[in-house]
Amino acid sequence: MEHDVVIIGGGAAGLMCALTAGRRGRRVRVLEHANRCGKKILMSGGGRCNFTNTGTTPANFLSANPHFCKSALARFRPEHFIAMVDAHGIAWHEKELGQLFCDDSSKQVVAMLLAECAEAGVLIETSCSVETIRAAPAGGFALRTSGGAMATESLVIATGGLSIPKMGATGFGYDIARQFGHAVLPTRAGLVPLTLSGKHQEHYADLAGVSVHVSARCGKARFDNAMLVTHRGLSGPAILQVSSYWEPGKELLLDLLPEHDIEAWLLERQREQPAAELRTVLADVFPKRFAQRLCEVWFTSKPMRQYSHGELPAIARQLAHWPIVASGTEGYRTAEVTLGGVDTGGVSSSRMESTTVPGLFFIGEVLDVTGWLGGYNFQWAWASGHAAGAVA
Ligand code: FDA
Repeated sequence: MEHDVVIIGGGAAGLMCALTAGRRGRRVRVLEHANRCGKKILMSGGGRCNFTNTGTTPANFLSANPHFCKSALARFRPEHFIAMVDAHGIAWHEKELGQLFCDDSSKQVVAMLLAECAEAGVLIETSCSVETIRAAPAGGFALRTSGGAMATESLVIATGGLSIPKMGATGFGYDIARQFGHAVLPTRAGLVPLTLSGKHQEHYADLAGVSVHVSARCGKARFDNAMLVTHRGLSGPAILQVSSYWEPGKELLLDLLPEHDIEAWLLERQREQPAAELRTVLADVFPKRFAQRLCEVWFTSKPMRQYSHGELPAIARQLAHWPIVASGTEGYRTAEVTLGGVDTGGVSSSRMESTTVPGLFFIGEVLDVTGWLGGYNFQWAWASGHAAGAVA
């Protein structure tokens, strides 16, 4: 057979798998349908690629089987990727919460992966589309591609998720999974801005650009971070994170002052600033326009001394349990990730190999494993790519 391993998709997971298998002496070919590899890496982290998170644990991932990611994450950890980054002299810094970014550019991460692939003898073909795949009678797989026919012993599906279609995202990986009898769990956009409609949108729309530190909650998930008001709804890290847990019909609540005992704070303000209006008091802790809007739409602003004993605790409760009625999400157009995907039930968690079709592997985002915002998705791409590359 002319190839030991063919990898479809030259993104984060595919390139990591390729260099790992290539280092073992396997003859590896990567087929990428875009005109270059790693486009999502290039656009990630605002051009600086948040390439890992030092605090990565399985708890940072969503999957129908929360145990699936454990084995690969335990074997290829953030320090392993950091060692590669350091060996290539790429300077990096921690932004917050264990999130590591390049000091300079995400181009360095792509260049590093391509250099490692070249060193390991990996062949990379860009602008190559795969037309058909079938299991060869004598074992392995036969592929028909725009670059001709090819045969391989192992086939790795690393085609990613559906987010940002204009970057080359396709549902191809899901089609192949189904072709070989694998279940694909329903997909939806994750790490995505939420949209508001009707009066909910009207209340916020002209505050676009205002950022407030909140705690966003959906079910048991809770994220303390910034919320950004947009023209069409809400975004910012707290909203992106909680969006992965939200579905239409699910309750979404904000604590607008997560670091305060709000009732105690309001009662203290009443004692210390009895003549100040509520809107002035709230402007100490919120951007002024946001405080003003709270008092126009939801509360009546009057001097603090005029609030009765029952009124301030009621305002405090409302600030701590602020309901958001989202009409939907901005969808795959802007989503950072795709939730759902190839059911991990049919895939070995240590090898990423199909349990029913020997030699067929699934890695990265095409699988039903989705990380939080903050470098976790790349860590999953590296870890799952490495797990498959070690055995494919
Ligand atoms: P990935 O999408 O990287 O690669 C899949 C590859 O397959 C692509 O190159 C695609 O062109 C190719 N392909 C698709 N269909 C094909 C076909 N039919 N034939 C051949 N090739 C095909 N994560 C993180 O941890 N830190 C961050 O900073 C960011 N930032 C970020 C910003 C933005 C704007 C987005 C959209 C996403 C992020 N992410 C992120 C998420 C992260 O980019 C994503 O989870 C990983 O790239 C997934 O790696 P994969 O290799 O699985 O897919």
